Amino acid sequence: MAEQKATNVHWHEGDITTQDRNKLLGHKGATLWFTGLSGSGKSTVAVALEGVLHDMGYLSYRLDGDNVRLGINKNLGFSAEDRTENIRRIGEISKLFVDAGVIALSSFISPYRADRDTVRELHDQAGMDFIEVFVDVPLEVAEDRDPKGLYKKARAGEIKGFTGIDDPYESPLNPEIVLNSATMSLEEEVILLIDMLRERGILPASE
Ligand code: ADX
Repeated sequence: MAEQKATNVHWHEGDITTQDRNKLLGHKGATLWFTGLSGSGKSTVAVALEGVLHDMGYLSYRLDGDNVRLGINKNLGFSAEDRTENIRRIGEISKLFVDAGVIALSSFISPYRADRDTVRELHDQAGMDFIEVFVDVPLEVAEDRDPKGLYKKARAGEIKGFTGIDDPYESPLNPEIVLNSATMSLEEEVILLIDMLRERGILPASE
């Protein structure tokens, strides 16, 4: 876990609590952490879920690898250290969203188990829901889809250290949910996630 560098800093409580915000929004905040290979379908399912939640009147927000790397994490690359720092920052940002009452849909390859476990621990310590969603497809399927043409470049040696080709991906051991986008439809995946959010009391039970 990252060390606390600044001294003499303390969390400042406001008058409005997380519970107040949950009441305002009509649901709880939580982090759904989508992990999997590039091209596994993480962002696709997050976009679809965001749409359905919005139509139901629930507030979610997507945090996505490519988007975040164009802004707050633009100073990070793909070395092991940088990937760890990428995930640490997103973990903290996800927590802020949960505190705000929002359902954070965080889609990152997040290849290292230890990094994901650290984010889980940070949520646990704060009494926040962290739901690890493993978007599990065989490498051949992701490579065959190759939506951004990056696997082709990696195979040609034009990208070094590409996850799944010459960089590791450590599958989750105990994810809350496994989605196999090669065998499940997008609709089935979204229904599974909505049901899970209801079962966990993050969304109210359906009438
Ligand atoms: S992570 O490993 O640090 O979690 P993140 O999810 O933020 O990665 O970003 C992954 C995205 O960056 C991929 O979907 C792909 O578009 C792009 N990318 C560029 N270079 C690499 C690389 N070497 N390995 C993996 N993804 C890469």
